[in-house]
Amino acid sequence: MTAEFHHVPVLLNECVEHLHLEPGAVILDGTLGGGGHAETILERTAPDGVLIGLDLDQDALDASAARLSRFGDRARLVQSSFRHLDRALHELGIERVDGVLLDLGVSSYQLDAANRGFRFADAEIEETPLDMRMDASQGRSAADLLAQASAEELQGWFQRYGELPGSKRLAAAITSSRRERPLETTADLLRVIHEAGVGRGRRHNPATLVFQALRIAVNDELGALEEGLDAAAACLRSNGRLVVISYHSLEDRIVKHRFRAAARGCICPPRQPICNCGVEPSLEILTRRPLRPEENETGHNPRARSARLRVARRLQEVA
Ligand SMILES: C[S@@+](CC[C@H](N)C(=O)[O-])C[C@H]1O[C@@H](n2cnc3c(N)ncnc32)[C@H](O)[C@@H]1O
Repeated sequence: MTAEFHHVPVLLNECVEHLHLEPGAVILDGTLGGGGHAETILERTAPDGVLIGLDLDQDALDASAARLSRFGDRARLVQSSFRHLDRALHELGIERVDGVLLDLGVSSYQLDAANRGFRFADAEIEETPLDMRMDASQGRSAADLLAQASAEELQGWFQRYGELPGSKRLAAAITSSRRERPLETTADLLRVIHEAGVGRGRRHNPATLVFQALRIAVNDELGALEEGLDAAAACLRSNGRLVVISYHSLEDRIVKHRFRAAARGCICPPRQPICNCGVEPSLEILTRRPLRPEENETGHNPRARSARLRVARRLQEVA
């Protein structure tokens, strides 16, 4: 680990309240991070509740293992994506859980770590390799994507995941620049963004949007979220809670639509007069509008500002 693991859990009280924690409950935290939410969940489900904690990031698992060691085997930590949470539960011999928490995105630790490539603001770390993988042992890094993706793919990511004005211009600048030499460090990418002149005069620093888009693409964050929400709903016991915190509108939209689809059930075409698909609703939505943090939370934790929390309840399974 390169830095002390620092991350303040967001909307902690709201998560605890909506998970309906009781002694003995079995809760899956699909985004363990520094274990802030997990620690409180273990305290509130004492003496015999179980917390299954998943994360892709080995640093997060190491930090949480130390923080949660006092709970012994009540805390079961696994390196896995939450998109495969059914597999992780199966390997632990657990079929159903009472609650699932997903606190999406990256932790403050990952953003601050000088060697992960998520961060670009400080001159002294500009030579950081462009990695951005949450699990640094698997898949393609941001540098690989910048070297291998077509101009159309790059443009699509910048447009969809960053809503970056000038996406096409930046994609063309990247493919032209990499003919000279590969883009390997944050400094290389910042130089091309600057030379392409995208997003000048906008409210957001264009680099923020470009780095966000690349991070989402590298980790297939939106694909993982769609699969993870379905897997989470499927593993909940009747009346179990699914609590999701998202940090940008792309994530929140997916959560909202996935919840709605599960609450509707029926997948017949809209114009078909009589339902014959037989798909029953599986979730009840408990938050019509997403919950936002109070001012006193955003005042001391700026990361919480964009947070939105949605909650759903698993309906009785139909035999
Ligand atoms: C916002 S942090 C969670 C912080 C945590 N709730 C806490 O209180 O410390 C998000 C974490 O989710 C992890 N993560 C992101 N996508 C993931 C995925 N698909 N599967 C598992 N972990 C993921 C990241 O590595 C990061 O550690």
